[in-house]
Amino acid sequence: MHMHIRDARAADAAAIAEIYNHAVLTTTASFDIEPKSVEDRARWLAGRSPLHPVIVAEVDGVVVGWGALSPYSERPAYSATVEVSVYVAESYRGNGGGRALTRALIERAHLAELHVLLARICTENMASIAMVRSIGFTEAGTMHEVGRKFGRWLDVVTWEYRIEDRCVTGSGSGDTHDESPGCRKEEDAR
Ligand SMILES: CC(C)(COP(=O)(O)OP(=O)(O)OC[C@H]1O[C@@H](n2cnc3c(N)ncnc32)[C@H](O)[C@@H]1OP(=O)(O)O)[C@@H](O)C(=O)NCCC(=O)NCCS
Repeated sequence: MHMHIRDARAADAAAIAEIYNHAVLTTTASFDIEPKSVEDRARWLAGRSPLHPVIVAEVDGVVVGWGALSPYSERPAYSATVEVSVYVAESYRGNGGGRALTRALIERAHLAELHVLLARICTENMASIAMVRSIGFTEAGTMHEVGRKFGRWLDVVTWEYRIEDRCVTGSGSGDTHDESPGCRKEEDAR
């Protein structure tokens, strides 16, 4: 299945909301509890910056997934650290879209000279954990019972990816994991 990765546009707000809201209502992937309106997602898209992009994955012109880099904290010393979010529509999972979106976001972070990507993932979310691990994120630690959804306490594990250690090249749709010019080689960073 060919997935095309591109920057999100205002017209993608409805597709992004639909994909996100399914996860909000049925999973612990998001710690939101109420669905987001299309208008809310349109405002969210309009407020993005080159440091904090939203991208989408398309199949035959249909948006089947999206990903975003978001500020980790408003405090300025954290400005080179971003949080990554990736959501793929249920019926399109398992086709490489999540990996392609995450790799494209790593490439965007590299180009924007960001330093660290964080993925905060509920410990129940084995698909997401397997995905970030396979891309090269490393486990930073677990916070216990910091969330509550569907009537139960939820643990959150943070995964981190330092841009200068490893960089991913390409459009984001390929599977190449290698070093970009200007990136230290993995073995040099250890
Ligand atoms: C996590 C998610 C984004 C993965 O998207 P996807 O397109 O299905 O993932 P890919 O096909 O690119 O798979 C990449 C890797 O993820 C892992 N993975 C994906 N689905 C998995 C599953 N159900 N079980 C275990 N590992 C899984 C595998 O390591 C896989 O690599 P492999 O195919 O070489 O084994 C998708 O399941 C999703 O949208 N989940 C709901 C939202 C969410 O959890 N987002 C992450 C929070 S930010």
